[in-house]
Amino acid sequence: MENIDPLEALRWSVEMGADEAIGEQPVNRYAVSEPITASVPVSAKLSEPKVQSMERAPLAPSQGIADSLAAAAAASNLEELRNAIAAFEGCALKQTATNLVFADGNPEADVMILGEAPGAEEDRRGVPFVGASGQLMDRMLAAIGLDRTTAYISNILFWRPPGNRNPTTAEVAACMPFVQRHIALVRPRVLVFVGGASAKAMLDRKEGIMRLRGKWYEYGGQGLPEPIPALATFHPAYLLRSPGQKRAAWHDLLLLRSRLDELR
Ligand code: URA
Repeated sequence: MENIDPLEALRWSVEMGADEAIGEQPVNRYAVSEPITASVPVSAKLSEPKVQSMERAPLAPSQGIADSLAAAAAASNLEELRNAIAAFEGCALKQTATNLVFADGNPEADVMILGEAPGAEEDRRGVPFVGASGQLMDRMLAAIGLDRTTAYISNILFWRPPGNRNPTTAEVAACMPFVQRHIALVRPRVLVFVGGASAKAMLDRKEGIMRLRGKWYEYGGQGLPEPIPALATFHPAYLLRSPGQKRAAWHDLLLLRSRLDELR
């Protein structure tokens, strides 16, 4: 058998999303510990369910949403909102994340950018968009004269999904009241939704980012006196994988720049 370079194998695992150690010892999941019998008696199948040894079992999704709605509504400023999110137990992602990732940049800025979810670096530092895609985001902003003093940046999820997997509908729904309250408290003049997950969730649309990007929408979420113009565009992580799309992203950035110029 061909020798496998352990470093290459590790690099491959990280690329596949297995970038966290979750136990002290490796587990051979191919080893069958007990013989599998086809005829398990019905009485055994229906026995008492085993109680999982979790410190805090996640709430049922609908309870999570009810809790986040109430907690979000009670927050009257950004600090209270951050504290309410930190105390929220209705999103299971919190249990595997290292840090809550709330926001970065200037909450007084004209533009608020919403990405999808923190990645590994964001999770480590508790700051959104500081990994490879964040660095590209900074360069994109700089190209139209913006930076983190003139933009405010957050995500539709406040905790990293394990292994950077896609967030589930239930996770997005549980966090949505906080995201809507976040927007209502910041009240930016322009919103930018980066990536399909953010654009679809915030605009309540089914189309993918290819169709949604490069156009202006009206975001009329909870708690706003009037809708806010919102632009959908590609996620920088996608642009890193598909640099051929940078031309389209540049078109979107120019749309944003001219909208901001009109506000002056
Ligand atoms: N991708 C996101 O959508 N958000 C981050 O904060 C980092 C990467």
